[in-house]
Amino acid sequence: MAQLWGGRFTKETDRLVYQFNASISFDQRLYRQDAEGSMAHVRMLKKQGILTEEEQNQILQGLQEILADVESGKLTITDEYEDIHSFMEANLIDRIGDAGKKLHTGRSRNDQVALDMRLYTRAEVQKTDGLLQDLLKVLLGIMEKHTETIMPGFTHLQKAQPITLAHHMGAYFEMFRRDRLRLGDIYERMNYCPLGAGALAGTTYPLDREYTAELLDFYGPVENSMDAVSDRDYLIEYLSALSTIMMHLSRFCEEIILWNSNEYQFVEIDDAYSTGSSIMPQKKNPDIAELVRGKTGRVYGALMALLTTLKGIPLAYNKDMQEDKEMAFDAMDTVNKSLVLFTGMLDTITFCKERMSDSARHGFTNATDAADYLVNHGVPFRDAHGIVGQLVLYSIRQKKALDDLSLEEYQAISPVFEADIYEAISMETCVNKRLTVGAPGKATMEEAIRAYRAYLEGGCSAEK
Ligand code: ARG
Repeated sequence: MAQLWGGRFTKETDRLVYQFNASISFDQRLYRQDAEGSMAHVRMLKKQGILTEEEQNQILQGLQEILADVESGKLTITDEYEDIHSFMEANLIDRIGDAGKKLHTGRSRNDQVALDMRLYTRAEVQKTDGLLQDLLKVLLGIMEKHTETIMPGFTHLQKAQPITLAHHMGAYFEMFRRDRLRLGDIYERMNYCPLGAGALAGTTYPLDREYTAELLDFYGPVENSMDAVSDRDYLIEYLSALSTIMMHLSRFCEEIILWNSNEYQFVEIDDAYSTGSSIMPQKKNPDIAELVRGKTGRVYGALMALLTTLKGIPLAYNKDMQEDKEMAFDAMDTVNKSLVLFTGMLDTITFCKERMSDSARHGFTNATDAADYLVNHGVPFRDAHGIVGQLVLYSIRQKKALDDLSLEEYQAISPVFEADIYEAISMETCVNKRLTVGAPGKATMEEAIRAYRAYLEGGCSAEK
């Protein structure tokens, strides 16, 4: 049991207490952030005349060596230390002796851990943003290829009106673009440095908090030292953004699972992204899509857990805050893996164009357009709706699509119909006459695609 705080105690910590209290098993992933934060702190102490140049250099070299040894596997982080901060400091003192004992001057583990977690989360925000960008590129590629791929658009999971695959993918493009915007907002709000807040009330040393903030690429220091050590809002915002990303992925997965089913057959998931059954040889299951949909729950869980943990904590630091890590790390890992796998699955999926357009053709998705035809010939919309309703009923009884009725059959229901009705209700007309902003018409979609391409070429939103 290696602890930083034995001085005022007369007894060893109970073994179970030590284990319950320790965070090394999960905060060891912060080792790089911990070393980088310490290096900035030490540079600042030297600049302020609190450490000598010699002491600074010894500490910096010691920390760099520890970092290199951890990364090469020469040094393993073991649970004989309480947390990553104790591990780093104890190792430094082992290596360089007395100078190492000066590292923690003007610092507390409270501002240290607040910094480590913020640095880690900031990098994750950028990582997630990059993965979303990869997904958007794949979506845009599909859109470019499928501005003429007709499919049914659904409401209530009932065929509604014809759209194109490009249009459908465009809706997801918008969702994931909003997710990136959210990450960019979070980055802007979170990019302030808590280091120098001390335990809660700053320190009596003349620290230069602006300087440490600058060294670590923050916009500046967190204003209030109590807030600096007890704020985890940025993590809640990030978990909330991750939850929304998972909600979007989950809806998309649900559609892919439906589209991949024997009944729809709109898509075929690539073999590399499918799994088989141990008993039924014919099966090819969409497990990846199901797992991503399923994992959404644990990401929501991390958000709810952290909100609940924080709701009763008085200012400033309390040990409850150590609970910000395990589930948040799990959520970050889960979303990153889900995005990578989902993007790979989407990039290799086959779209069955014929099945999609047949499905649109055989579901009365052009009934609205038949009614609009009558309106354009002077029939009031409400009457037109009734007439086409009768046509649909007649067609269902005849087991025919609207396109397959003869002109005589049309005219038996309304004499307004002429031979140009077939052209007016063709799938292509239905789609391509829809040219209002955001509609699936080819010309409109091509304009949207141009704008999306320009947006993606514009760079990364979660960076300064
Ligand atoms: N492991 C702790 C955490 O994650 C580090 C901070 C400990 N501070 C303290 N005063 N015990 O929150």
